[in-house]
Amino acid sequence: MVNVTLKVNGETRSASVPPETTLLRLLRDQFNLTGAKLGCDVGDCGACTVIVDSKPVNSCLMLVGQVEGREVLTIEGLANADHLHPLQKLFEHFGSLQCGFCGPGVIISAKALLDENPDPSTEEIRDALGGNLCRCTGYTKMIEAIKGASCILRGEEVPAVKSA
Ligand code: FES
Ligand code: FES
Repeated sequence: MVNVTLKVNGETRSASVPPETTLLRLLRDQFNLTGAKLGCDVGDCGACTVIVDSKPVNSCLMLVGQVEGREVLTIEGLANADHLHPLQKLFEHFGSLQCGFCGPGVIISAKALLDENPDPSTEEIRDALGGNLCRCTGYTKMIEAIKGASCILRGEEVPAVKSA
């Protein structure tokens, strides 16, 4: 067993787990943070995406030994007590998800993008979502939502919905 201590959604968390435990398993099984999803478990689908030290990562590919002392943000850390994050609000407003399985990973990838690039183009949004597979939607409404959230975060008005 190895001991690991890291910051998750602003809170210091520790656990003692087998060394082959992934960050995804640590979050889900030890900390009961089940927003990040177990999809492929091999780095292909992005359902497990979380932010580690400002960068989006596939948490199914990171071992606990790689996250000691690091800062992790999961979908559970996005909203505050009273308000959803603009990305969450706009995904809901635009009906950007269907089954929702990919949603936490997509929204976290979008959050990492907007933290780095507050006014991304459609192409840049498509690139940022390149590792997030969605089997239900055509991504169009996700892109509308991410653009809308970027407007809110920049203090601008959200443009009218273009997609059906
Ligand atoms: S579950 Fe991690 S990339 Fe698919
Ligand atoms: S909404 Fe179903 S996988 Fe994306």
